[in-house]
Amino acid sequence: MIENTVERLRRIRQNEANSHIDVYTHEKLYDSDTWLKKPIKTVQDLMSSFSGYKELRVLDLGSGVGRNSIYIAESFQGETCSIDCVDLLDVAIEILEKNAAEHNVGNRINGIVKAIEDFHVAEESYDLILAVSALEHIDSERHFTDKLSEISQGIRDGGIVCLVINSEVTEIDSATEKALEPNYEVNLKSEQILKYLDEFFGGWTIIKKNTTDQKYNIPRDGITSRLSTKVISFVAQK
Ligand SMILES: C[S@@+](CC[C@H](N)C(=O)[O-])C[C@H]1O[C@@H](n2cnc3c(N)ncnc32)[C@H](O)[C@@H]1O
Repeated sequence: MIENTVERLRRIRQNEANSHIDVYTHEKLYDSDTWLKKPIKTVQDLMSSFSGYKELRVLDLGSGVGRNSIYIAESFQGETCSIDCVDLLDVAIEILEKNAAEHNVGNRINGIVKAIEDFHVAEESYDLILAVSALEHIDSERHFTDKLSEISQGIRDGGIVCLVINSEVTEIDSATEKALEPNYEVNLKSEQILKYLDEFFGGWTIIKKNTTDQKYNIPRDGITSRLSTKVISFVAQK
């Protein structure tokens, strides 16, 4: 049983690494037809919340090559901005650092190669914590809820959390209609995730909380997989 869990995690992580490295090494940030084309709108909309700030401390969990963080670093008008970017893949962090230098924000971005579950979020340290399509890749549901708890304590008063989480993901081989195992370590029901969000962020001011159905095709080991997901977007202020 334990061996199966370890083997499943290894397989998912290898598949995920292959597909991310492929995109990161072949596509250019903000000049691509993939998801690297631009920062997510939710992050773009957030920046006005920090317009009066002199200092901004940000944590981006599962940062990838900086799609959201580099935009934040470039947009923030205050004096001091420090963004900790955590990603499992050393290739992602290498390219993130190159991207940051190219965009003249190298001094605002700190790349950290680490799994989210192994990165300790220090208490009251950040004005903004974001995790975009990342928390569902934590290695277990228990570590997922531990991290939500740490995130809620890691935000300073008045700070903001911005989470985008896939849930109820299914994948089907488009040629054979056979079900495939989705490459998501934690694949929870959306209702369960919303319950956890209520539990850990109860009493915060909710800026955005919605769930949208999304379907798209992805290449997977020489076949095309039809992926279906319920994407939860959650933004709240402490
Ligand atoms: C779908 S990408 C999203 C990247 C970025 N947040 C964005 O919006 O462009 C997910 C990223 O999370 C990273 N990742 C996956 N599992 C992780 C984990 N357990 N710890 C840290 N990073 C992880 C992947 O390497 C990948 O770069």
